[in-house]
Amino acid sequence: MHAISLYIAIICLLAFVKNEDKGTEKCVTSRQPKSNLSNQNLTKVPPNLPKDTKYLDLSHNNISILNGGDLAHLPQLCFLKLTHNGLRYLSPSAFTNSTQIKVLNISYNSLESIPVLPLPQLSILDISSNLYDKYTLGSSFENFKNLSYLSLGSPNAIVVNVNDFTPLRNTSLEWLILGDGNKLQSYESGSFAQLRSLQVMTLKLSFCQHYDMFKAVLMDLDQTQTKKIKLVKFFPRICSITSNPFEGLKKMRLLTNITFEDTWVTSSLITNLLENAFDSRLQEFAFVNIKYNEDTPDGVQFLGVPGSNGTGSIRSIIFDKVLHYQYNYPKFNITVACFNKMTYLKFSGSGMNISPCNLISAIPSLKILDLSDNLLTESGFWWPMCSYTEVFPALRQLSLSRNSFVSLAFISQKTQQMKALQSLDLSFNSIVVRGETCSWPTQLTELNLSNNNLGNTVFQCLSPHFQSIDLSKTAITAITGETLLNLPSLRHLYLSYNSILVLPGDLRAPNLLTLYVDQNSITSISQSSLQGLPRLKSLKANSNPFSCSCDSYWFVTAMNKSKLPDWPWDYRCSTPPSFSGKRLEEYNPGSLSCQPLPQAATGLSVIFVIVAVFGLTFYACDGVWYTKMLWVWIRVKRRGNQEASRLLGASFHYHAFVSYSHHDSLWVDTQLVPTLEGAGLTLCVHERDFVPGDWILDNIINCVEGSYKTLFVLSKNFIQSEWCNYELFFAQHRALSVCQDSLICVLLEPIPADSIPRKFLKLRSLLRQQTYLEWPGDEYKQQIFWASLKALLRTGDKCMVLKEVATDIADTCHLLAQGDQA
Ligand SMILES: *[C@@H]1O[C@H](CO)[C@@H](O)[C@H](O)[C@H]1NC(C)=O
Ligand SMILES: *[C@@H]1O[C@H](CO)[C@@H](O)[C@H](O)[C@H]1NC(C)=O
Ligand SMILES: *[C@@H]1O[C@H](CO)[C@@H](O)[C@H](O)[C@H]1NC(C)=O
Ligand SMILES: *[C@@H]1O[C@H](CO)[C@@H](O)[C@H](O)[C@H]1NC(C)=O
Ligand SMILES: *[C@@H]1O[C@H](CO)[C@@H](O)[C@H](O)[C@H]1NC(C)=O
Ligand SMILES: *[C@@H]1O[C@H](CO)[C@@H](O)[C@H](O)[C@H]1NC(C)=O
Ligand SMILES: *[C@@H]1O[C@H](CO)[C@@H](O)[C@H](O)[C@H]1NC(C)=O
Ligand SMILES: *[C@@H]1O[C@H](CO)[C@@H](O)[C@H](O)[C@H]1NC(C)=O
Ligand SMILES: *[C@@H]1O[C@H](CO)[C@@H](O)[C@H](O)[C@H]1NC(C)=O
Ligand SMILES: *[C@@H]1O[C@H](CO)[C@@H](O)[C@H](O)[C@H]1NC(C)=O
Ligand SMILES: *[C@@H]1O[C@H](CO)[C@@H](O)[C@H](O)[C@H]1NC(C)=O
Ligand SMILES: *[C@@H]1O[C@H](CO)[C@@H](O)[C@H](O)[C@H]1NC(C)=O
Repeated sequence: MHAISLYIAIICLLAFVKNEDKGTEKCVTSRQPKSNLSNQNLTKVPPNLPKDTKYLDLSHNNISILNGGDLAHLPQLCFLKLTHNGLRYLSPSAFTNSTQIKVLNISYNSLESIPVLPLPQLSILDISSNLYDKYTLGSSFENFKNLSYLSLGSPNAIVVNVNDFTPLRNTSLEWLILGDGNKLQSYESGSFAQLRSLQVMTLKLSFCQHYDMFKAVLMDLDQTQTKKIKLVKFFPRICSITSNPFEGLKKMRLLTNITFEDTWVTSSLITNLLENAFDSRLQEFAFVNIKYNEDTPDGVQFLGVPGSNGTGSIRSIIFDKVLHYQYNYPKFNITVACFNKMTYLKFSGSGMNISPCNLISAIPSLKILDLSDNLLTESGFWWPMCSYTEVFPALRQLSLSRNSFVSLAFISQKTQQMKALQSLDLSFNSIVVRGETCSWPTQLTELNLSNNNLGNTVFQCLSPHFQSIDLSKTAITAITGETLLNLPSLRHLYLSYNSILVLPGDLRAPNLLTLYVDQNSITSISQSSLQGLPRLKSLKANSNPFSCSCDSYWFVTAMNKSKLPDWPWDYRCSTPPSFSGKRLEEYNPGSLSCQPLPQAATGLSVIFVIVAVFGLTFYACDGVWYTKMLWVWIRVKRRGNQEASRLLGASFHYHAFVSYSHHDSLWVDTQLVPTLEGAGLTLCVHERDFVPGDWILDNIINCVEGSYKTLFVLSKNFIQSEWCNYELFFAQHRALSVCQDSLICVLLEPIPADSIPRKFLKLRSLLRQQTYLEWPGDEYKQQIFWASLKALLRTGDKCMVLKEVATDIADTCHLLAQGDQA
């Protein structure tokens, strides 16, 4: 079982980190055009490039010679990448007109000598992986006053002489990379000591059998400013270690960081390193992409240095991508107390599936622990056999990203043991939320849950103390005002890559500074959605399917764009089809067509016409009844906007839950259900759709929660026999009573509010405040009744509603006219 898990880790190791080109930002900003002519079978620099080209990538072509004049037409060239071209010769006159070059990468070519480069501005130079046989730098390097990064390496160069680096003596070189993964044969003392301003040294060299040479290198580096050494391929697979390789570390005055990369490392070497470095100034040890071979029976042994009662200066240890040579657990016999200054530990990509008891968790000063990219589960990290009395006493930040954790509730309970924990990263796990209750410690304020398949239920499992929550790519479909009310401390909310359709108008988050809703399904952002976010500083909403209609008018014309970090890039229209793909910024509606005043005027005139029509019939028919109906319509129209958000934001099984007394079942069965279901509405009908055996209240809750609206068929019978259930229900579910708009009452017979028993507080207030529909005896009026009821139930999509109300009104007017004629 364990062998298998390690094997998986080994396969994962093959995924490599992407290599970024250094110094791009010295020449172009991220949005400026970059000329990428990589992989084009070119044999020479194209002569027709724009004169103002600053960035030119000609890598992976077949330009074997660069002659004088080849770059003369590009006087502004600043970044030139010419790697993987089989470049054999580079004429110094090629650059006569290119004095602006700051970054030159001619690595991975076939240059047989280090070229002469008359480039006074050069800051970054990469000539590694070529074929020259010595590191002797020409006198042109004396002019590189601004050179900060130099990479040299050739399989043929195996000797370093003092004269090689003399031209760099007066430069401000900070970072030197030397070697090609080969073995150094001789090093002349004093060579590196000339590089006075050197800060970082990367050696891609091995010193097997010659660690005295490595000691000489270290002594020279101690004459410079070098704080960090990176040793790449330092220990090959077969390397005889006859002397102490790390002896020189003890005396280094400035060196604080040491990294081993792409190399074999044995447990005896780590033990040796700890013994030599314990009394030095070294603070950070990093092992990146190593193959670990346990060559001692007890693994890494470190119980302190005899004769020293110091606690060392080690502050951070990093293991990133470890391939285990043996298929067994690595062993550590370490006195944790020796590491009582350690604040940072990373153990990533190591295939770890069980966290050893009382080792990591006992480090007294550990503040940041990164166990990302392992094979940990709940029982692996909180191994049941370990005792957890005093664990992670100082831990503030924990990353469990890219593991196999499942239960958010379990994790929330376990983090209670970590008394100082502030930030927890659970991204890229397999976490689900299944209705269990979560109890997060109060000091935990940052949670990263991105890239888990959570869904909207995750909002039940968050703590009111959270200040930053990352819910990117977590299958969320809706965010509601109520959700934010439960998160009063929230400052940063990340909801990128979800399927959110609307930002509702009732979002209230007084402390929110950052909101990311990019890559969702939002079609417009209204002023009301942002009104409740007074401190919002940064809103990312790009890559949504924006509607280029009046809905976006405010956002395009009035929204403060300095709050949108990516505006106007990636803000594009998706509807209407004629605007599809256009930039939202370019959508410029005539102010007349979208501004509220003209719209209201049109709306008013429509209403005026309708009122006139009703007015005419007022005397002929039952005028008061029609006026009430008109009131219903106006309210439907007004509320359409808010309702749209609710309907779109959630998924419901039914348009409405219908509740009625069995005394009224005749009307419900013969009139209500056939008419509404015939119109394509889905109903959950009390009695018909109730699950037998469930308690009545459970049935009601399920039905109400699965329905967009609740429709009460009120009669005296209903009030006597059914209503008490609902009073109870409303008392328990305050939430529903807040959104009263989802309640619709149909009065089958007149019921004066005063005739209702005093204990039914809710019903009395509903009948006083709420719009209700009265069932008319008259057949024509019944048609209007049905049209109103359908419109009320369908207040989903705003445009649909307005259109429907309009057609319904038109139809009804038509009917009325017919009725009058008849
Ligand atoms: C030069 O290009 C090579 C190949 O793409 C890349 O690996 C290397 O990092 C580049 N050097 C710099 C300094 O960016
Ligand atoms: C340049 O183009 C090549 C393919 O032609 C592509 O692989 C490479 O990623 C591009 N580089 C950049 C910086 O876009
Ligand atoms: C480069 O040449 C190879 C073979 O000569 C050909 O297969 C490839 O399509 C060419 N690539 C381009 C970008 O022209
Ligand atoms: C590169 O160009 C040379 C001629 O300049 C040609 O002989 C060689 O075959 C080309 N190589 C490739 C890989 O196209
Ligand atoms: C060299 O650059 C200057 C502008 O800096 C330009 O006027 C001149 O034509 C260029 N030389 C060549 C040979 O293109
Ligand atoms: C070196 O860089 C600085 C700014 O980074 C610039 O002001 C100066 O002119 C440069 N020196 C040379 C010789 O290019
Ligand atoms: C470095 O500068 C000093 C004077 O500051 C000068 O004497 C010496 O020749 C220079 N060395 C090089 C290699 O330019
Ligand atoms: C050196 O190590 C310290 C302590 O871990 C760290 O803060 C710093 O960033 C490291 N410096 C470099 C250049 O990597
Ligand atoms: C141990 O530390 C104490 C004070 O920190 C010091 O006085 C003593 O000399 C140290 N002993 C040794 C063996 O280093
Ligand atoms: C750790 O090493 C010490 C000294 O070699 C030994 O006495 C002790 O038993 C070891 N502890 C474990 C758990 O192996
Ligand atoms: C959450 O984790 C993801 C993946 O590790 C990372 O990209 C993102 O930046 C993190 N979010 C925050 C707010 O730090
Ligand atoms: C827009 O927002 C920025 C940053 O939030 C603020 O500094 C600026 O005053 C705002 N501008 C207007 C016109 O409100």
